[in-house]
Amino acid sequence: MTDWLWEYEGYDPAAERLREALCTLGNGYFATRGAAPECTAGDAHYPGTYAAGCYNRLTSTVAGREVENEDIVNLPNWLPLRFRTTGEDGPAPWFSPDGEGLREHRQRLDLFGGTLERTARWATADGRVLLVRQLRLVHMGDPHLAALRTEFTAEGWSGEIEVEAAVDGGVTNSGVARYRRLDGAHLVHVDPGDGDDGPGAGGGAADVVWLRCRTRTSDIRVGMAARTTADSAAGHERPRADHEPDRAVQRLRLSLAAGEPRTVDKIVALHTSRDTAISDPLHAAADRVRRAPGFEELLESHRTAWRQLWRRAALDVPGEAGRILRLHLFHVLQTLSPHTADLDVGVPARGLHGEAYRGHIFWDELFVLPYLNLRFPEVSRALLTYRYRRLDQARVLARDAGHRGAMYPWQSGSDGREETQQLHLNPRSGRWLPDHSRLQHHVGSAIAYNVWQYCEASGDAEFLHTKGAEMLTRIARFWADFADFDPDLGRYRIRGVVGPDEYHEAYPDADRPGLDDNAYTNVTAAWVISRALDLVRDLPEPRRVDLLERTGLGPGELEHWKEVSTRLYVPFHDGVISQFHGYGELAELDWEGLGSRHGDIRRLDRVLEAEGDTVNRYRASKQADVLMLGYLFSPAELRALFARLGYELDDATWQRTVDYYLRRTSHGSTLSGLVHGWVLSRVRREDAWAYCREALEGDIADLQGGTTEEGVHLGAMAGTLDLVQRGLTGMETRSGSLWFDPVPSPGLSEYGFTMRYHGHWGVRVAVRPGELRIGLPPSADGLPIGVRLGGRSVVLEPGTSCVLPLPET
Ligand code: BGC
Repeated sequence: MTDWLWEYEGYDPAAERLREALCTLGNGYFATRGAAPECTAGDAHYPGTYAAGCYNRLTSTVAGREVENEDIVNLPNWLPLRFRTTGEDGPAPWFSPDGEGLREHRQRLDLFGGTLERTARWATADGRVLLVRQLRLVHMGDPHLAALRTEFTAEGWSGEIEVEAAVDGGVTNSGVARYRRLDGAHLVHVDPGDGDDGPGAGGGAADVVWLRCRTRTSDIRVGMAARTTADSAAGHERPRADHEPDRAVQRLRLSLAAGEPRTVDKIVALHTSRDTAISDPLHAAADRVRRAPGFEELLESHRTAWRQLWRRAALDVPGEAGRILRLHLFHVLQTLSPHTADLDVGVPARGLHGEAYRGHIFWDELFVLPYLNLRFPEVSRALLTYRYRRLDQARVLARDAGHRGAMYPWQSGSDGREETQQLHLNPRSGRWLPDHSRLQHHVGSAIAYNVWQYCEASGDAEFLHTKGAEMLTRIARFWADFADFDPDLGRYRIRGVVGPDEYHEAYPDADRPGLDDNAYTNVTAAWVISRALDLVRDLPEPRRVDLLERTGLGPGELEHWKEVSTRLYVPFHDGVISQFHGYGELAELDWEGLGSRHGDIRRLDRVLEAEGDTVNRYRASKQADVLMLGYLFSPAELRALFARLGYELDDATWQRTVDYYLRRTSHGSTLSGLVHGWVLSRVRREDAWAYCREALEGDIADLQGGTTEEGVHLGAMAGTLDLVQRGLTGMETRSGSLWFDPVPSPGLSEYGFTMRYHGHWGVRVAVRPGELRIGLPPSADGLPIGVRLGGRSVVLEPGTSCVLPLPET
């Protein structure tokens, strides 16, 4: 089981926030960072709790401008539990890891059971040693519950301790240093109470206390209730309620006998007014916590829920890589679990693990859904439905920009408007700078790609023929309208955009932002339009009529789409694909000089801006941009796409292109190592594993320097799972069959996983040197599936398996 444990020995205040992020527990509905229960937010600690999709918008003034930001809200902290010894001279100070006397400290994250365990040994000034063991969970079966068990053992002494448990509504969003100048007070009307007597009641014995509040402008009502009990020889000892203005507090005195553990259990329920099947969040939370079983029973049902998840998502990768992949899977499932299928939420780029990027939704789902599609298709469908519900808003964005179709925002939150910040802070220079990343319209193609991939993997024709078809056609319409014809080139062009490499946002010395003909944007736009054309052609007649009526699509427009999708411009220079038109005319960067002056230059944009220069002048990228094409499309599909556009993309050109950008990328995003590992595994195998390793270590080693503590990088985490699933196996779900084209990897020669495909549960894929094995579990009404590898094609019946030899390499 050690493969499932992540242990942290000792207490290091400097590393505490990183551990908190990596030890976050969640269930897809809400998550809580792994902060020490006795600590409040400060330099070393940040106990955040976030409910998926719970946002609030505030206006702040920075650099003399009013800016509006919507943030995922840090909800009341349910963790607080502190303790101190008492004596004749009154109570000793509350124990704190930052105070005196900490003798031992260990945390252990158990991925299999979904719990965080903590063991600490403290000594008071007069030498009394207290052993404290805590176990916490955020329930995977009942998404509104969490629990914390604390066991106290007096070592070699007997006496009394005082325990204080609380629910703290006096919290703000202050987890990201760069945002601290922005207003972070999202909660108002914070009322603590207990019993049924309304706010402020208290002072008597109360097992259950509660706290209610509202978000300031989105007016989401939040109810949190806590039930604290202590074991005792005579049954339960009842705590006394003793509220403070923003905190519902319970106090207890425990008599400890030497060597005999005493236990305090705190069970917590959370509801918000976004929940279904409740009348009022406070009432629902109080009711739920009263009805909740005891800690032991909760622990058991929680573990059962996790066991079921692990069965559905079985992944067998040996060694350290497997251990890290399991951690990644754990955090993906804590952010996007089957409970997410019932919510109206998207894929938050930084999980529910911190406040970076304000809980916003970017294109990162492109790296997440392909994994989920083949395990939890119902979750993928819900995440795509989040986009569908905001399709009208995307049409408004397109219309306001003077275009037809749907222009999805680069950053999305509650209602689908553009949430990208207008200004961002360069912490190196202290300057607030305009943020043009909203010009990354390629996010729409990512959504279309996901619609297509989801439907191919799940066989969900209903979604494809209804919501999916509408999204795809409206995104295609946007691209066909956005592209304009350049008679000199005889081609369509997409101008004024920003590509995945967000460092380049304008031409040097240009007076307006945006670049022309980002190759990734143009090629994916061509792909979207041609998929939409195929779909309109192949829809069942009644659905086609509905779609044409609903969208007003006519033959003339479809003809225009065909023309745009075959004549979009893709720039080339020096025998390689250009990242955008004019890229080849930019200056070369002195990578070595800059590196020796500054050390870590991943965030080249900030380094250069602080020097009074701009990255716009150089052939230097933040992350994979052109090479993203090799991530989305198999070599054969990419060749065909270029051929459809009238360009020849032979292996040599692609290889040159890969080498070219590899030398000119700073990997300032965790997504970059992942994409490079993926692409290189097909063209330069020897080098691929170094990038795969970088992707694996991105968060555990905090490679982007201090960013993981603000939230994990969910895209890279899920992407590494998909790297095994699709990257190394070369698996494609295409035309109703499973296609494989495995590549050997120096770091990983044997691996296997379980997936769900076209309604079949538990499809087993295992790769060993020289062979690929695939098995289909028995099913009474399951259809056979087609499997293709190299020139071979096999039809696999339910209840059978086959072994396919891999071609010699
Ligand atoms: C990356 C984007 C990504 C965003 C959120 C940025 O650093 O450049 O590609 O969408 O982070 O993860």
